[in-house]
Amino acid sequence: MKRKNTLFFLLSMAIGLNSFAQKTIEIATKSNVLILETDRDNTLLSTYLGKKLDNVSEYPSIQALDKYKPGSDDLLNKREAYIASGSLNLLEPALTVTHADGNKSTVLTFSDVKTEQLDQNRKLTSIILKDLKYNFQVTLKYLAYFNENVIEQWAEIEHKEKGAVVLNKYASANLTLSGKKFFLKNQYSGATREMRSEEQQLLHGIKTIDSKLGTRTNLLHSSSFMVSVDQPATEDMGEVIAGSLAWTGNFKLDFETFDEYYLRVTAGINNFSSNYTLKAGENFVTPRFIYTYSSAGKGLASRNLHDWARNYQILDGKGQRSTILNNWETTYFDFNDEKLNELTKDTKKLGVDVFLLDDGWFGNKYPRNGSTSGLGDWQYNKQKLKNGISSLGKEATASGVKFGIWIEPEMVNPKSELYENHPDWIIRQPERKEYYMRNQLVLDLTNPKVQDFIYKTVDDIFKEVPEVAFIKWDCNSLIYNANSPTLKNQDHFYLEYIRGLNSVLDRIRKKYPKTPMMLCAGGGSRVDYAALQHFTEFWPSDNTNPYDRIFIQWEYSYYFPSIAVDNHITDMGKQPIKFKTDVAMMGKLGYDVRVNELSKNDLLFSQNAVKTYNGFKDIIWHGQQYRLQDPYENKIASIAYVNEAKDQAIVFNYHVATLFTNGVILPIKLKGLDPAKRYKIEEINMYPGTKSPIDSTKVYSGDFLMKVGFNPEANAYRTSVVLKIQAI
Ligand code: DGJ
Repeated sequence: MKRKNTLFFLLSMAIGLNSFAQKTIEIATKSNVLILETDRDNTLLSTYLGKKLDNVSEYPSIQALDKYKPGSDDLLNKREAYIASGSLNLLEPALTVTHADGNKSTVLTFSDVKTEQLDQNRKLTSIILKDLKYNFQVTLKYLAYFNENVIEQWAEIEHKEKGAVVLNKYASANLTLSGKKFFLKNQYSGATREMRSEEQQLLHGIKTIDSKLGTRTNLLHSSSFMVSVDQPATEDMGEVIAGSLAWTGNFKLDFETFDEYYLRVTAGINNFSSNYTLKAGENFVTPRFIYTYSSAGKGLASRNLHDWARNYQILDGKGQRSTILNNWETTYFDFNDEKLNELTKDTKKLGVDVFLLDDGWFGNKYPRNGSTSGLGDWQYNKQKLKNGISSLGKEATASGVKFGIWIEPEMVNPKSELYENHPDWIIRQPERKEYYMRNQLVLDLTNPKVQDFIYKTVDDIFKEVPEVAFIKWDCNSLIYNANSPTLKNQDHFYLEYIRGLNSVLDRIRKKYPKTPMMLCAGGGSRVDYAALQHFTEFWPSDNTNPYDRIFIQWEYSYYFPSIAVDNHITDMGKQPIKFKTDVAMMGKLGYDVRVNELSKNDLLFSQNAVKTYNGFKDIIWHGQQYRLQDPYENKIASIAYVNEAKDQAIVFNYHVATLFTNGVILPIKLKGLDPAKRYKIEEINMYPGTKSPIDSTKVYSGDFLMKVGFNPEANAYRTSVVLKIQAI
């Protein structure tokens, strides 16, 4: 075998086939590696994604072990690192191009590789692939985060052809995985029904998860997912790849199984109705596809993403957050100065940081007294707010709290002055019937004038109310009748909308870099890592029933860290306030309650709860999250957060059984503690007048708690139990 190879090598040198020289590129993180390698045709293949090998010199041996040998009636196929179409590849491509001369074939071959060590933790690898028949190239970018075991991958496409080329498909990345079976976990949604989990075997063919909604792009599906190889990974076992597309617009995730052992994952902007005309010399940069590999189940994959997100992606991910009292579910549109001033006082009474004024504060010709009017007219309503919004900011400061405000600047109600004055700013098909979601239409953010208008709306609020310390940015409609009245090439519409949105957000962030902003889209219809560069947090759902929220929050936690998840205690759900509070504490705590109507004990409990939360919030926001027992298959759901030093942990336990049960019979095994440390366990956040059965004087080793576990004694009478675990 060896002699045969040597012979072939000498022969190929003699006839000038020096491209046979194999090039191996390692995209390595602390535990994992993605191996890219050229083949004889100088095509760049992706040969391996998994745990690092001890011996780097063995990577080149991987390629030869894949014995996929197509017969004369079989499809030719390669594990290309970025798959173009029109020539060899006949499966789902990452890239489809119509060249300037009308030809539709693209063949990419390896040209060059550069690496840059950006800092101790981040290494950027840029690989140039060229089409030898055209002056056309793709640079594959791999940004590896060493400690977090995360890779960001994207593509940059440019050309110098004699005329424009059209990009018919331009995905960020494709990965080829090999294994015996593949299982996809993803989440489907609806308003108030966000993030319901499905896990299925990927049988042969393509499974596509996408969005064509324009805005509110996660209304139906999450743009994040997990794929397990060979068998569905459990929380702590199995091989799994977690991925998320950092794009706020239409997305497309294709999972194509082919032959017997391969899965190709292609992730990128949805090319639906979006042929992109690329001028010569223009650099088209795709959004980033973020992924992590875990050989130890979904839990580790989630923690990798959480670490990466806090350290690098979410705005102020390592910083602090505010607790909130929001008026939405207590007043809806029905309020005035006096009511709001009472609420700012209640904010103080409760002990939270910010009073957040929600929808309904604006519109005069068409007052915003309901969802049918006023949207777009961002002048405060003079009837409701006799002293203006600036005085609300001052009142809040006088009450010793901060002031926050709701906006929905991308939208317009047909019943508004904005609609009357700027019909050309609105997305619609002039000759067709208008369709509305929540009685509104979407402004045309592809238009720079609209971008300026939105920027000015936000800037004016800051000017009028310098105290503004929090913004909730809502987005309640998707795009029907997609059409810009001004854009020349409607094929660029969806893309230019998001570029316009990003440019507005960039401008806002330049002037107001740190003001916390909540990303909201009628609940959780817009939750992606591109938006979270501008936002500090998101509103996961308008469903605040705490029972449902255990599931919703559980599912978001696969991809997003708790510091970014806004959880409010509201009137929804019949559970006691203690249960609601415990659930809301697993993230960023807030309230939508009538403080003045709380019973004496509920108020006392809540005031203490805010103090308790302030004492441990750092562990929830910046610690490691461990999903201990899921709410689907267990009577008790259990989630733990452990701080970096592993000397403190908070464990939340909820009785989720619908049939009568005795609750926890067996202990629940903890995770992430230090086996050598000794810990005491205390029940916290108790309702006034209740006693805990848990002996807080007893000492357990970390080893014991992780191997044997601990019984929180949650049951039908103790429906939620929060434990504080403290090393002694
Ligand atoms: C939808 C959001 O999800 C709610 O929290 C609230 O802000 C309303 N919009 C206001 O119209």
